[in-house]
Amino acid sequence: MKQDMIVILDLGSTENTVIAREIRDLGVYSEIHPHDITVEELNALDNVKGVILNGGENRVVDGVTIDVREELYSCGYPIMAIDHPTAKCTKKLDKLPDTKTLKSFLFDDCKAEANWNMKNFIEDQIEIVRRQVGDKKVLLALSGGVDSSVVAALLLKAIGNQLVCVHVNHGLMRKNESESVVEVFRNQLNANLIYVDATERFLTKLENVADPEEKRKIIGGEFIRVFEEEARKLEGIDFLGQGTIYPDIIESGTKTAKVVKSHHNVGGLPEDLQFELVEPLKQLFKDEVRACGVELGLPANMVYRQPFPGPGLGVRCLGAITRDRLEALRESDAILRDEFAKAGLDKKVWQYFTVVPDFKAVGVRNHERSMGYMVVIRAVNTIDAMSASIERLDYDFLEKVVARITDEVKSVSRVCYELTPKPVATIEFE
Ligand code: XMP
Repeated sequence: MKQDMIVILDLGSTENTVIAREIRDLGVYSEIHPHDITVEELNALDNVKGVILNGGENRVVDGVTIDVREELYSCGYPIMAIDHPTAKCTKKLDKLPDTKTLKSFLFDDCKAEANWNMKNFIEDQIEIVRRQVGDKKVLLALSGGVDSSVVAALLLKAIGNQLVCVHVNHGLMRKNESESVVEVFRNQLNANLIYVDATERFLTKLENVADPEEKRKIIGGEFIRVFEEEARKLEGIDFLGQGTIYPDIIESGTKTAKVVKSHHNVGGLPEDLQFELVEPLKQLFKDEVRACGVELGLPANMVYRQPFPGPGLGVRCLGAITRDRLEALRESDAILRDEFAKAGLDKKVWQYFTVVPDFKAVGVRNHERSMGYMVVIRAVNTIDAMSASIERLDYDFLEKVVARITDEVKSVSRVCYELTPKPVATIEFE
């Protein structure tokens, strides 16, 4: 390992991630592990320089107060205990450490080096992946989103053509999105990429399905089936790469944290397709994943892209999806994204997109009454997607977008700007 590491043991505090982030900000790598880790497991983590025990509000699990193993106190690592200090620790605190105290623990007690940076992280992960995978093959569902793209680039660097990427185009991707996945990964990075155009299959399955949950289920289920079919065609695959990142693990619940939502990347594969997981980004926060992508040389527009839901344009083409309305959605979304980029708003606004409801509104084209689709513009800012505020887009900017959409997308008769924050609205419309 290139990097020194401070291990935080999870004793039910919701502040663990805050401490981990602060330690990383001080230049030392930090990971959070379950409270009942054994000394053997701790030693196997390589380059551990110190341990932090952080008790908290969720320390009582099913009526039992959890604690670390007794053997840990004599393992030889400096230990800092916060909240239920015991006599055997190097440092005892009754509240979260201030920066000075934390620094003194890291650099005086643990003698850690401030060598946490993306270059070293990547080198470490390459070594870990090579050790795990050996000469076997890894399969990866490459959606083109930030996480799967960064994991693909990292695995490619680690194991080259032992990585097999599968990109499923479900026909609900944004304009040129699948093309750019093929261009970057197959043409520029020489990845072993299987491109599956399953547009017809998805759109046929979705015909006349108006219920949002039913649409999501069909898209998710069909995705698994297509991916599974491709996996079965391949031979000698033992591992499945996943773009799991740290917030996914937190949201899925640790031993002490409540489940926020269960996390599935390519969950739901049939029992007989059992793979061991390779998840090199699972300790990274989102901004660190992006920094990792930049360090790996991925294009900025791939690394800094806005969040895009798994069911894609499927949940923005409201109600039962029709092909011409989907096209109006895709084109209007591309225009909006283009104008955002030109105005420099793409780096400022968290999520921005268009939505097309399933009705037509009357308009006038060539001096004649004509029915057309209504495009809705949504632009929001948020920190955690649990609540969101509206971006106050400038009227001149909006008018330019309206002019372009109505000029270039002939099936559109109206463009609206949506102003409802979350709550009461959600970010997506379905
Ligand atoms: P809502 O609409 O719940 O969205 O306010 C919050 C964030 O989650 C994204 N989103 C999804 N992402 N699959 C996903 O992968 C989904 O089904 C899905 N629904 C919403 C949404 O884009 C926003 O960033």
